[in-house]
Amino acid sequence: MPAGLYSWIIIFDEIVVVDGIYVMWYEQAFQAAWAAACKVERSVMLVPEKYQFLVGPISFSGPYCQKGITFQVDGTIVAPMNSNAWGKGLLQWLEFSKLVEITIQGKGTIDGSGSVWWQDNPYKKKKKLQAVRFYGSLNATVTGITIQNSPQCHLKFDNCIGVMVHHIRVSSPGDSPNTDGVHLQNSRDVLIHSSTLGCGDDCISIQTGCTNVYIHDVNCGPGHGISIGSLGRYNTRACVSNITVKNVNMHNTMTGVRIKTWQGGSGSVSGIMFSDIQLTEVQFPIVIDQFYCDKSTCKNQSSAVSVSGINYQRIKGTYTVKPVHFACSDNLPCIDISLTSIELKPLQEKYHLYDPFCWATYGELNTPTTPPIECLQIGKPTSNRPQTDHDTC
Ligand SMILES: *[C@@H]1O[C@H](CO)[C@@H](O)[C@H](O)[C@H]1NC(C)=O
Ligand SMILES: *[C@@H]1O[C@H](CO)[C@@H](O)[C@H](O)[C@H]1NC(C)=O
Ligand SMILES: *[C@@H]1O[C@H](CO)[C@@H](O)[C@H](O)[C@H]1NC(C)=O
Repeated sequence: MPAGLYSWIIIFDEIVVVDGIYVMWYEQAFQAAWAAACKVERSVMLVPEKYQFLVGPISFSGPYCQKGITFQVDGTIVAPMNSNAWGKGLLQWLEFSKLVEITIQGKGTIDGSGSVWWQDNPYKKKKKLQAVRFYGSLNATVTGITIQNSPQCHLKFDNCIGVMVHHIRVSSPGDSPNTDGVHLQNSRDVLIHSSTLGCGDDCISIQTGCTNVYIHDVNCGPGHGISIGSLGRYNTRACVSNITVKNVNMHNTMTGVRIKTWQGGSGSVSGIMFSDIQLTEVQFPIVIDQFYCDKSTCKNQSSAVSVSGINYQRIKGTYTVKPVHFACSDNLPCIDISLTSIELKPLQEKYHLYDPFCWATYGELNTPTTPPIECLQIGKPTSNRPQTDHDTC
């Protein structure tokens, strides 16, 4: 065995009974292999093919690990079916934290056994469970693998600098609640490409604190499209800038490209480019919603996360409800919204279709659009936008 290659010794270290079924736990074996791999720069921890490993929540954690560790997943890692096995306080199943140049790669599968969570579950509402979470890491790469059936979010990056995700597959049913594909938060210098993401919530969700994100050549669907937000909940400040989404196919998604913010927030979303998006059977292809609300009504508040410099180019395909929905705040209208070569056609007459909608939305139409987006106000608002500290980021 080459130096630094840690292969599993396949012995189960404990047998427990969950719901009357004998279950082999590999947690301690994984932890022991990690402890060994952690000490050696550029080591490889191998999860061999043809084997399936049932493990409870594990943290593969620095900060004292050497850099450049590869977690090679060729087999399958499965989460326990019993939701209690996740413990009551844990937010993630497999956590990779405070690592430098960490890579997960391979042709294997990480399966979150989410179906038990998708049913009614008393902890579900309070938690935001993630199958795989990277926290506070530098240059993290995920490639090759399939991540499927997460209880909620499949792959999350939080407080990371330098993220590369490519040639991965995310798969969970379109009706599985809150199952985001890839979730980014407080992370910068992110590249996601050549991946196929199908789930029950956003294929990719970009949250506060993200900048310099480039997403290209992604297939999305089923799911809720690619979303920035929701931002500014509970009057928080949110900052998202320099995001490019290009060459994306969306099929049978709820929204296409969407920006959603809560009333009462502050901060800004700026410098966004959505280009070359092909849509089929998408309910709402283009959405900006500064009144995002997850219940029937939310309190009206005057402050908002500002939205400016949003570019849409070559967004084409079929919709089933409303092609364009821009709902912006009276106090802080959306500005510099630019649309070029938009061609959206209703799929069929069998649905009730709506015209494009805009409220307090200003910008430019660089070409004629299909359908015409006459509601966009050309230019800038006449009154200067309030010079508060709202949009300093
Ligand atoms: C992260 O990757 C970038 C780009 O490849 C490189 O310049 C930088 O040195 C890397 N940082 C660390 C800590 O490995
Ligand atoms: C914006 O992000 C891209 C990566 O997508 C990066 O190459 C570029 O330098 C960033 N621009 C600025 C002004 O930071
Ligand atoms: C919020 O404002 C809108 C538009 O002015 C109004 O129609 C709605 O009734 C208000 N909602 C609440 C909860 O005050």
